[in-house]
Amino acid sequence: MIEEIKASELNPEEYISKQVESIGSTVGEGIGINALSGGVDSSAVTLIGHRAMGDKLKTIFIDHGMMREGEPEYVRDVFKNLGVDVQIIDAKAEFYGALKGLTDPEEKREAITRTFYKDVFGKLVRDTGAKHLMQGTILTDVDETVAGIKRQHNILAQVGIDTEQEFGYNVVEPLIHLRKDGVRKLAAALGLPEEIYNRMPFLGPALAGRIIGEVTPEKVATIKQATVIVEEELADSGAFQYMAILHDSRVPGMRDGKREYGQQIEVRCWDSVDARVATPTRIPHEKLERIAERLVNEVPEVVSVTYNITPKPPSTMEAV
Ligand code: XMP
Repeated sequence: MIEEIKASELNPEEYISKQVESIGSTVGEGIGINALSGGVDSSAVTLIGHRAMGDKLKTIFIDHGMMREGEPEYVRDVFKNLGVDVQIIDAKAEFYGALKGLTDPEEKREAITRTFYKDVFGKLVRDTGAKHLMQGTILTDVDETVAGIKRQHNILAQVGIDTEQEFGYNVVEPLIHLRKDGVRKLAAALGLPEEIYNRMPFLGPALAGRIIGEVTPEKVATIKQATVIVEEELADSGAFQYMAILHDSRVPGMRDGKREYGQQIEVRCWDSVDARVATPTRIPHEKLERIAERLVNEVPEVVSVTYNITPKPPSTMEAV
């Protein structure tokens, strides 16, 4: 049982010193590596890791091609300003290859996990001589995976994977006692800019988790465009998280007086504190209409836009 530290009880300075000390004694003179996605969790881990290890920690941005538009460069620039060098690794071919032909959500999640930890990280670890992978797993990720609700991509030891044996490195998880609200408090204390510590959560499997059915470069291009629009339009909603989801099946629509079997985009927007339960935000109807209008006009082939009005549970926040 992992000890939970609630955001209200968290003393960030104390927590950071404890983790820095613990990382120091775990890794000693060894080399560490961490994947930064630009989300609040991996950003906080990056700064804690650098406090503990300095240049002995290599920070990598794995570009699987499924992040938001412009994300790799944005993240590299934010961290450059904080004095941390981020290396961008192009792993698009590995991820698209692993996802080819898969439609089952759990198989897709499993393929992403394998590609990430075994193929891409396995190679990086061999190349750099790193022995420790630092990552930003939080308590909510563990809970839902262990409960069998959804296999989160970053859960390994807790589902019985021996990373030392299977992948050849040890995993260090400095945020494991916290939930999202606690991590935000910590991230602010670490000196991360507000655009990062208040950033909306974005799942590790990225846009692959927002495509129902097989993930292809064409579908990723569609969901990237839809994501830009939904994020722009809902930026002032005050919601915990909002997203566009691309459905698998096409539906009849009409454009220019002709039938078009087009794509369906589902919009989700959640009010939540820690992602364990969530309710759909009551978005004004005019706003929903504007989102629909932009999606059908600006994203090729979209003919249907829906808004999810089901709370979690029984819905989950992501669709895959
Ligand atoms: P669900 O869909 O499980 O999402 O209700 C709850 C929260 O977790 C995020 N999420 C993930 N984050 N790896 C992550 O890093 C994952 O595999 C993953 N799956 C879901 C989701 O965006 C939401 O904030």
